[in-house]
Amino acid sequence: MEKNNRKQKDHVGGSKPPRFVQHGYLFLFFFFTLFITTQSKAFDYADALSKSLLYFEAQRSGRLPYNQRVTWRDHSGLTDGLEQGVDLVGGYYDAGDHVKFGLPMAFTVTMLSWGAIEFWQQIADAGELEHTMEAIKWGTDYFIKAHTGPNVLWAEVGDGDTDHYCWQRPEDMTTSRQAFKIDEKNPGSDLAGETAAAMAAASIVFRNTNPHYSHLLLHHAQQLFEFGDRYRGKYDGSVGVVKSYYASVSGYMDELLWAAMWLYKATDNEEYFEYLISNAHTFGGIGWAITEFTWDVKYAGLQILASKFLMEEKHKKHADILEKYRSKAEYYICSCLNKNNGSNVNQTPSGLLYVRQWNNMQYVSTASFLLTVYSDFLQNKNQHLTCHGGIVGHEEILNFAKSQVDYILGLNPLNMSYLVGYGSKYPNRVHHRGASIVSYRENKGFIGCTQGYDDWYNTQKPNPNILVGALVGGPDLQDNFDDQRNNYMQTEACTYNTAPLVGVFAKLLHTENKKLVHDFDSILVSSI
Ligand SMILES: *[C@@H]1O[C@H](CO)[C@@H](O)[C@H](O)[C@H]1NC(C)=O
Ligand SMILES: *[C@@H]1O[C@H](CO)[C@@H](O)[C@H](O)[C@H]1NC(C)=O
Repeated sequence: MEKNNRKQKDHVGGSKPPRFVQHGYLFLFFFFTLFITTQSKAFDYADALSKSLLYFEAQRSGRLPYNQRVTWRDHSGLTDGLEQGVDLVGGYYDAGDHVKFGLPMAFTVTMLSWGAIEFWQQIADAGELEHTMEAIKWGTDYFIKAHTGPNVLWAEVGDGDTDHYCWQRPEDMTTSRQAFKIDEKNPGSDLAGETAAAMAAASIVFRNTNPHYSHLLLHHAQQLFEFGDRYRGKYDGSVGVVKSYYASVSGYMDELLWAAMWLYKATDNEEYFEYLISNAHTFGGIGWAITEFTWDVKYAGLQILASKFLMEEKHKKHADILEKYRSKAEYYICSCLNKNNGSNVNQTPSGLLYVRQWNNMQYVSTASFLLTVYSDFLQNKNQHLTCHGGIVGHEEILNFAKSQVDYILGLNPLNMSYLVGYGSKYPNRVHHRGASIVSYRENKGFIGCTQGYDDWYNTQKPNPNILVGALVGGPDLQDNFDDQRNNYMQTEACTYNTAPLVGVFAKLLHTENKKLVHDFDSILVSSI
């Protein structure tokens, strides 16, 4: 970040199939194709899902594997950690720069994992489970390396100031790769907490496919939580270089609750649940009604997950605290739906949620995710949501999330897809070092620190490499967007923008396919 900040069900259900079906599937196929092509233009969520996962390959740091699909990238950052005598090769570059920032990277992995857990079947039906797990593992492999002792976690590699001074491909990097850590004397409960949350959530993802790895992740997660809980402090007080980039404004109490939540989900160990209950008040878990969910502020996600426990018999004795969590969760959902008394999230004239001008899409992306999860929760429990502005059903909530995603994919005044590489019109000058400079695979001639600014950054030419699947910062309060490389508030993409969309695309794809089959059934039945 720049400074400051598919499967179809058997169609004809029931008794006897219509005669023409018995007579030929070819005819049926023709009819179905005609049906699809005459539908109003729907968004291709399958394509969006596949593309969103490619983005994580473009952001890879370290030695790229043989099956790397984003082929304009090559190995980079191969000496990360060397100066400090620790192997920190791997992980993700954060955004358009090459700093590996621990806190947003961990949040990215937590969101990818949550999406995989919540929408497992939908992602599997779309054939993207492998890629999703690879995206998660690229992050967790790095966290394992970065957690070098029970109470030592490497927080960052590189630093914003020196990194931003240069405009280079990652393969050419000449900037400082100094690494920074937190430990007992230099605590960072927020970073330790979020990394614990990421590894605990990922341990659930790998539980069946790779149980050994899952155990390993859980072990790290438990240690990190203990470290963060025992040695309390904000990581930006210990790692000063992060202050003007990813300062922990909300502090560390949300991450400690968040970590306990994910550890409880991963272990079923009641001690973690007790932690959530006994610290609910003092850590702001049930006090903070908040209308944004980000790499910094975890309360809304925590509150939504806590609400689900209300349904479980064994948690009845804590119903009072859980109700309070739920009330705050509902506040968040109602504010997104513009149905609170007063405090709502702003919207652009075309209906995009709008929080602030710098990288506004991160709030849209996380809101779409939480709304989708909450809609599923209400549907499963056959419940409604009561907002000040009225009673809301699960369909309305999902439709609102869909409206945000459709805006992202091009249903907006500029007909612009803010998901790079999707559709026919998308940002051409994404603020991204690697994408804006000729591919290293094509031209291995060294490009120096400021040479990149002169020869590549300062041109009006479109980026030579398309950063497929990146969600850029997006339009302003008036739905305007200026596709310029130096307009980093709008044209820069971050890993945590795309991460929540993976699960949402899979869910919307599944919902649209069900609708399509349902509508087709109706047409078939009415044509008999
Ligand atoms: C809505 O907000 C207004 C202004 O803060 C307040 O006076 C009113 O009592 C609120 N209504 C409800 C039902 O909470
Ligand atoms: C967006 O698409 C609509 C419908 O095709 C068209 O009427 C409108 O002029 C387009 N707007 C821009 C800015 O391209």
